[in-house]
Amino acid sequence: MNIAVFASGRGSNFQAILDAIDVGLLPAQIVVLISNKSDAGAMEVAHAYNISTQHLSQRMYSSEEALADAMLNVLEEHHAEFIALAGYLKKIPAQVIHQYRNRILNIHPALLPSFGGDGMYGHRVHEAVIASGDKVSGATIHLVDEEYDRGPIVLQKTVALGPDETPDSLAAKVLKIEHEIFPLALKAFAEGRVRIEGTKVWITS
Ligand code: GRF
Repeated sequence: MNIAVFASGRGSNFQAILDAIDVGLLPAQIVVLISNKSDAGAMEVAHAYNISTQHLSQRMYSSEEALADAMLNVLEEHHAEFIALAGYLKKIPAQVIHQYRNRILNIHPALLPSFGGDGMYGHRVHEAVIASGDKVSGATIHLVDEEYDRGPIVLQKTVALGPDETPDSLAAKVLKIEHEIFPLALKAFAEGRVRIEGTKVWITS
C-alpha cells in the first residue's frame, strides 16, 4: 500500500510508522510527506529516509480548491493509495476527502467522540481530560470525513490516569500508545482486513 503522510509537527507518529515498515510489521511504503510547515520535524524525518517531501500551505493558494488541486497532483504523482494524518493540524480540503473516501486515517490523542473537534489539539486535549475527572484517556484512530474528529472510529486503546496526572505526563502516556496503534490500523488496511459499513468499522483477523 502506497501511503502519503501528512504532518505538521515533530513527526514521532510518522517515525513510528516508518519503524513498523522497517521491521516488516506494516506491508506498505511511504511515498511522500506533505506538510503545511516547511520546518516541521517530520520534514527532517522524511529527509533522513530519502522520502519525497512537499510543503503545501493554504497561504500559497488563493482558495481551498486550488490547495486541493495541488495536493491531489502531488498524491497522484506519487501514486498514493492511502493517506495517514500523523499530527496534521489543518483541515483536509473537501475534494481530497472525496477522492480518498475511507482511505484517510487520523490519530487523535483522546477517546473520541469525547475531547475532539475544532481547536482540540495538543495540550488542550489532555488538560480537558484531566479537568473532566475521567479516569481513562487514550488514543483513537478514525477515518476522516468532512468534520473534525468525527469520522468512523477504527481503533482505540486506553490508558489509566493516575492521581497526580499532569497534561505532560498524560501526553507522554498517550503518545506511547499512539505509536502502537497507528501502525496496527494501517496494517489492517494494507492487508485488506477492514470492513466498513456506513459509520461502523471492523478490523477482522
Ligand atoms: C499527536 O499527539 C497526535 O495525536 C496529534 O498530534 C500529535 C502529533 O505528534 N494529532 P507527532 O508529530 O506525531 O510527534
